[in-house]
Amino acid sequence: MTRTYDHLEIERQGPVTRVYLNRPEIHNAFDDTSMRSLTECFRALGDDADTRVVVLAGRGKSFCAGADLNWMKRMVGYSEEENLRDSALLQTMLDTIDRCPKPVIAQVHGAVLGGGTGLISTCDSVVATPTALFGATEVKLGLLPAVISPFLIAKIGPSHARDIFMTGERFGADRAMHMGLIHHVAEGDDLDAWVNKKVERLLSSGPQALAAAKRIVHDVSFRSPEAVKDITLAAIAKARVSEEGQEGMAAFLERRPPKFKVDWNAGD
Ligand code: COA
Repeated sequence: MTRTYDHLEIERQGPVTRVYLNRPEIHNAFDDTSMRSLTECFRALGDDADTRVVVLAGRGKSFCAGADLNWMKRMVGYSEEENLRDSALLQTMLDTIDRCPKPVIAQVHGAVLGGGTGLISTCDSVVATPTALFGATEVKLGLLPAVISPFLIAKIGPSHARDIFMTGERFGADRAMHMGLIHHVAEGDDLDAWVNKKVERLLSSGPQALAAAKRIVHDVSFRSPEAVKDITLAAIAKARVSEEGQEGMAAFLERRPPKFKVDWNAGD
């Protein structure tokens, strides 16, 4: 994957691709261009056989201050149809990251507000600095967290959503951790160390298994065990006899490291 994207900076290190939001002058608030870039970038990463783990981070003082309010304000001059089409860009971007078949780690600091909280809700693991500041602040601007709501509620549940959506409160990493919005809090250099530790763990697992494990969370969440039994039985039956499953189990029994094929699309 060699192309560049407006408002993003991409760094590749072997199987790890780091995607940086890159509009530091406005705390990486995102507009239509940023959303198109993120969507295209994550689609490409999903198909990129060389990328096994994606890290999403922000350049400058903040991870992301949400939607670019200048862009949103301009919509007053749009027709209803144009307004809906532009709002759909956010939905498409969030959905694309949410369903990216590669593991996505968010590494966050500074402001993580409005759509920024939506963005981290689409990531598999979130590591934050202790000073990061979170909030679904839309009501303070006379708006509401609409498009991000299903992604955010899937992470924190309706109870915390009701509280933070309506108060619009800004809150710290401890509270974010308590509600399940983030997974680890790490200081300064430790932030990189935590992320690298996560990356290593992900790289030592079967690529096919990781994609399947992510898919099953989507497939079974908020459904009864009875309703999803065909999906869960089929998933484990497929994994047990797969080349990757056979190799993983054999390696364990033979007390050696597994040799997983890195060709992501093989056997899918
Ligand atoms: N959209 C557009 N511009 C934004 C922005 C956003 N969401 N958030 C910050 N900016 C801009 C500011 O307008 C300012 O621009 P200027 O330099 O041209 O005046 C610049 O980023 C720096 O912001 P500033 O507020 O001066 O920095 P700060 O360090 O004091 O505070 C934030 C940073 C992110 C905490 C603060 O800007 C903020 O609360 N932003 C709004 C976040 C929000 O409510 N997002 C939800 C959107 S639905």
